Amino acid sequence: MTSEEAKDKIRELIEKIEYYNYAYYQEDRSEITDREFDALLRQLEDLERQFPEHKVPWSPTQRVGGDITKTFETVYHRFPMLSLANTYSREELLEFDARVAKGLEGEKYEYVSELKFDGVAISLWYEEGVLQRGVTRGDGIRGDDITTNIKTIRTIPLRVRDTKGLPRVFEVRGEVFMPRKVFEKLNRERELRGEELLANPRNTASGTLKMQDSAIVASRKLDCYLYYFLSEEPVIKTHEEGLKLMERAGFQVSPTYKRCSNMQEVFAYIDEWEHKRHRLPLDTDGIVIKVNDLAQQRRLGNTAKNPRWAIAYKYQAEQVSTKLLRVVYQVGRTGAITPVAELDPVQLGGTTVKRASLHNANEIERLGLHLGDYVLVEKGGEIIPKIIGVDLARRKPGLEPVKFITHCPECGTRLVRAEGEAVHYCPNDTGCPPQILGRIEHFIQRQAMNIESLGPETIRGLLDRKKIADVADLYDLTFDDLNGLEFRIYSEKRGGYVVRSLREKSAKNILASIEKSKSRPFANLLFGLGIRYVGATVAAKLADYFGNIDNLATADYETLIRVPEIGEIIARSVLRYFQDEKHLQLIKRLKAHGLKMETGKREEPSGQALENKSFVISGVFKKFSRDELKDLIRNNGGRVVSSISSKLDYLIAGENMGPAKLEKAKKLNIKMISEEEFLRMIENG
Ligand code: IVH
Repeated sequence: MTSEEAKDKIRELIEKIEYYNYAYYQEDRSEITDREFDALLRQLEDLERQFPEHKVPWSPTQRVGGDITKTFETVYHRFPMLSLANTYSREELLEFDARVAKGLEGEKYEYVSELKFDGVAISLWYEEGVLQRGVTRGDGIRGDDITTNIKTIRTIPLRVRDTKGLPRVFEVRGEVFMPRKVFEKLNRERELRGEELLANPRNTASGTLKMQDSAIVASRKLDCYLYYFLSEEPVIKTHEEGLKLMERAGFQVSPTYKRCSNMQEVFAYIDEWEHKRHRLPLDTDGIVIKVNDLAQQRRLGNTAKNPRWAIAYKYQAEQVSTKLLRVVYQVGRTGAITPVAELDPVQLGGTTVKRASLHNANEIERLGLHLGDYVLVEKGGEIIPKIIGVDLARRKPGLEPVKFITHCPECGTRLVRAEGEAVHYCPNDTGCPPQILGRIEHFIQRQAMNIESLGPETIRGLLDRKKIADVADLYDLTFDDLNGLEFRIYSEKRGGYVVRSLREKSAKNILASIEKSKSRPFANLLFGLGIRYVGATVAAKLADYFGNIDNLATADYETLIRVPEIGEIIARSVLRYFQDEKHLQLIKRLKAHGLKMETGKREEPSGQALENKSFVISGVFKKFSRDELKDLIRNNGGRVVSSISSKLDYLIAGENMGPAKLEKAKKLNIKMISEEEFLRMIENG
C-alpha cells in the first residue's frame, strides 16, 4: 500500500468507526458485532503504526487508552466555572424567580429546567470541530488537563459530527459520570476480591478521571452529558439553542430538559422527575433552572460565586422502612470495629439496599435498635445508606436490644475502647488476620510501595502458610516461598472458591517488584506504614519537613504541630505510633532491608526573613499554589492569616482576587505585593 492509499483507507476506517460508535453509544443500535468493530479498530491501529504520518488527533484508536500521565498540567479556564446556588425549598425558588423578574425589569422571560446530574463537572475545548482539551473544574479558575482520560469516553466526540452552525472555537461543559450499573458491577467485583467498596458513583467517576493510566480509565466505562455551550461568537441566542446545537454536533445531551414559561411549569417538572429520575442510568440529586435567553443571562450577571440566572433545587433524600435482620461487625486495618446492619432488601433511590453502616456503639445506642425492628433508611450521597430512626409503631413486643460485641469476631480478643472515643478496637494488631492483611494491602498499594503484582489472594496464601506475618517479612520472601504457592480465588463461574498455584513467572515478577520497592521515596514508605490519620498527603508533608525517619520518630508534640497542616489529632497519632516498641522494631527491620528512610533533603524552617510579619493570600498565582505560599511564609517565620484587618502587614495578591478583599485592603492601607515581590522579600532576607 502506498502512503496515499493508506491515508484514504485511514480516513475511511475512521469514518466507519465513528459512525458505528455513535450508533452504538448514542442511538443504542448495534449494526455490526463487537468482533467486527474490533477488527476495524485493529485494522486502523495497524495502518497508523505503519504510516504514523497519517495518524490524526481525532483517531478513535485513542479511546482504548494506554498513555500514562504522571502529573496533570494545570490550565486556566477561559471562562471561570461557576457553581450554582442550592436550595431545598420551593419558597426559595419563588424568591429566586422574584429576583430574576426584578433584575429583568418586567421583561418577559422563560426558564429551561434540567436535571442536576451527580457527576464531575468538565470543560471541553474544540477547535475546527476537533477536541483539544478536557479540563476538570478545579477551583473554578483553573483545573487539571485530563484530555487523555477524557478521550476514552465513547460518547464524547473526538471531532464533531457536523460543524454546521459552530464557531471555529467553542467550549462545551457537562458532567462526566459513572452509570449506576457500571458502578454496581465494579463494586460486585471488588466485593468478591475482598477489596474495600467504593462509596458512590460520583466519587468513583472523579477518582477515575484523575488516574494516571488511561487504559484503566477506558475500562471504567465513564459517560458524559453536556449541558452548556459557550463561545466568544454569538452563534446562539438561548440556552435551549445551545443544547440543540450540541445535539446536532454529536454531543450527548440528556433529553430530559424542558422549557418552562413560569414557576408552575417548573414545579410540575420537579414533581414529574421526583420519582422518575431513579429510572435514569445515573444518579441525579435535583434539578437546575436556567434563564433561557442569553442576553437576559448577561443582564442578570453573576455574584462572586454563582450566576444570578440559574439555581439548583435539590430533592430531599428518599426514605424507606425495612426490617433489621442482624448486626455484623467488620474489623478494619487499624483494628477499628464497624457495626453493619443487615436489612431485609429494599429498593431505595434506584438501588437495592441490604446493608447500612451503624458507625459505632454510640450510634446503636442513640437509635435504640432492637433486632427485628423496622428502621427508616435514607440514602444520602453515599452508596451505603444511613439508618435515621426506628419505626417504633411497628416494634413487636419482646424484641432484644442490640448489644455491642465484647470480643473480636475474627480473633476473639477482648475489645478495647479508649476514654472519650466512640470506636471499639481489637488490640491484637499482630495476630488478628484482617488487621494483618489490611496493613499489608495498605503497604503494597500503588501510592505506597507499589508492589501491586502481589494480589490480595496471594497475600492471604502467604499468611495462611505463615510465610509472612508483617510487611517486613515481604523482604525475606524467597523464590521457593512463592513458586507454586497455593492460594484460593473466588470464581464467579463456579460460584465458589477454587485453588490455584502461583506460577514461576508470577513468583519472579513479585520478587522483582518487592526489590524495586526498596527505592520508593521515603514519603511513600511513610504512608505505607499506615499510621492512623497519616494519608498520602500528610506523609509527604512530614517526610519533607523532617527529612528522615529518626527526626520524625523523636519529634515531640510541639515540633509536630509546627508542621504546616499537621494538627493535634495527627500529631498525637504520630507520637503514639513511635512510642510503640513493635513499630520501632519493624522500622529497624525495614531499614536493614535497605528501604529508604530519608528524603535526602531537609526542609528546616529556612530563615527568619518574614519574622513577625503577617500575610493574607488572595487570588490565583503563577509559580506557587496557595498551600505552597503558606508553607513558604511559615518556613520563613511569618504568619498566615485569613482575613484582612488593620493589623495585617501584607496582602499577597494574585490574579482574580476578590473585589471585596481588594477594596478592604485599599481602605485600610495594607501593603499589597505580588508573588515576585514576596519571593524577593525572602531572598533578600
Ligand atoms: S449548569 C453556571 N446544569 O452542578 C452554571 N450544572 O454547582 C453552570 N451540574 O458544577 C452549571 N447538572 O457540576 C448545570 N444540568 C446541569 C447540571 C449541573 C449537574 C453540576 C455541575 C456544577 C454544579 C453546580
